[in-house]
Amino acid sequence: MKERYFDILIKTLDYIDEGIQIIDNNGKIMYSNKSTKSLDEIEIDKTIGRHILEIYPSLTFETSTLLQVMQTCKPILNKEQNFINYKGDKISTINTSLPIVSNNKIIGAIEISKNITTVKELSEKIVDLQTELFKNNTSKKKSKRTADYTFVDIIGQNNEMLKLKTLSTKASLSNAPVLVCGNTGTGKELFVQSIHNSSSRKNKPFIAQNCAALPSNLLESILFGSVKGSFTGAENRAGLFELADGGTLFLDEINSMPLELQAKLLRVIQDKRIRRVGSTSTIDVDVRIITAMNTNIEEVVEAGLIRRDLFYRLNVISLIIPDLVDRLDDMPLLIDFFIDKFNKKYNKYFTSVSKNVFNIFISYSWPGNVRELEHTIESVISLYDSAIIREEHLPYQFNKTKLTSDNNLKIIKPLNESVEKLEKEIILAALKQTNHNITKTAELIDIPRQTLQYKIKKYGF
Ligand SMILES: Nc1ncnc2c1ncn2[C@@H]1O[C@H](COP(=O)(O)OP(=O)(O)OP(=O)(O)O)[C@@H](O)[C@H]1O
Ligand SMILES: [Mg+2]
Repeated sequence: MKERYFDILIKTLDYIDEGIQIIDNNGKIMYSNKSTKSLDEIEIDKTIGRHILEIYPSLTFETSTLLQVMQTCKPILNKEQNFINYKGDKISTINTSLPIVSNNKIIGAIEISKNITTVKELSEKIVDLQTELFKNNTSKKKSKRTADYTFVDIIGQNNEMLKLKTLSTKASLSNAPVLVCGNTGTGKELFVQSIHNSSSRKNKPFIAQNCAALPSNLLESILFGSVKGSFTGAENRAGLFELADGGTLFLDEINSMPLELQAKLLRVIQDKRIRRVGSTSTIDVDVRIITAMNTNIEEVVEAGLIRRDLFYRLNVISLIIPDLVDRLDDMPLLIDFFIDKFNKKYNKYFTSVSKNVFNIFISYSWPGNVRELEHTIESVISLYDSAIIREEHLPYQFNKTKLTSDNNLKIIKPLNESVEKLEKEIILAALKQTNHNITKTAELIDIPRQTLQYKIKKYGF
């Protein structure tokens, strides 16, 4: 009975928003609830039994709150911890970590982590906005441009990529809204920034805002601004539309924008004027809108995640960026580019990848697309000193691909060799079944009697 309640309790932990993790006294992860996946982006099963620093490589014995508790045997309450997960996202958490003691001996530690990444980013963004506003109010200087990429930074000669570059170069000559679609890490932001930097708006602001995971009212006041007293803590503050005046406003993950806000966005795009939250007057704005989403367009529209009227407004020019697995012909180019980039950064002398690593790279699924390739090469170059990137240098997510790729290599041999082997097996089995009756065997495997006789002679049965 007790055990049943214990099982229920453990299952319940998966429904809690906070991440919960337990390590043993060797620092190995013994338990993670489902929410920890949203922090480290790794399947729970893959983390169990592994050392905490292996799963969170950007942490150290000093910065990991769990390992600190193990060392000091003292609880840590509500301490901020920052790390970079394997997708390269910066994650901030508030942790409470407690030692687990049995018979006066510390046998492990348990930690509860609250993800505050979004709240933190939001408050930082607001601070940035205030600074930007301050600069605009106190000097005649133009806003700082935040778009760094141009078309030359987009590596790719795959046919689809060349078409996309031509289309986006044309897009930069017009003011029409652009919708960029593609999975995570495919280079959406590169295209968006390049369009801005090639357009006549290049000396005006480029402002990017992610629409995901922000409560509707906060996003509204961030986009359109607010007037003092319109809601608790509201100040007279310009929104991103005003700040981006004359330039480009990039709304990322537009499919996550709450529907009621989408209706307001549509009105702003049509009227070219905004109304700050709580204000009675309107302000004219001249902003080019570029939007992006990392899901399939049809699915988003079908699922009603984006209003059709808004969708048609935004989707005047659409760029669909292919996954890395769909443009493997760019792999050699990308590998060379990133090797060169990180040789310079880390002062190393890598020249290429081994044949095996290349095979692994073209067999791997690349869920994080070009970003994942970039991080893979950066991690190898930063950690090792060699001329060639070899299999043993690759991070753990390639282990499975290494095996599959080895297996594939094993079955790759001259085709006639494999065909003959199979033919021999079939003829032998048929002969056995018919008690070596040639006519019946020939009928059974549907070949002429003479051919069968020839093959029996050939294989020496
Ligand atoms: N074609 C490319 N050439 C060179 N670098 C690239 C290319 N595509 C992506 N990258 C690299 O990958 C990183 C991720 O690209 P980007 O931020 O544009 O992806 P994204 O599609 O916006 O992803 P997300 O949906 O996760 O925001 C970039 O910082 C860049 O360094
Ligand atoms: Mg992006």
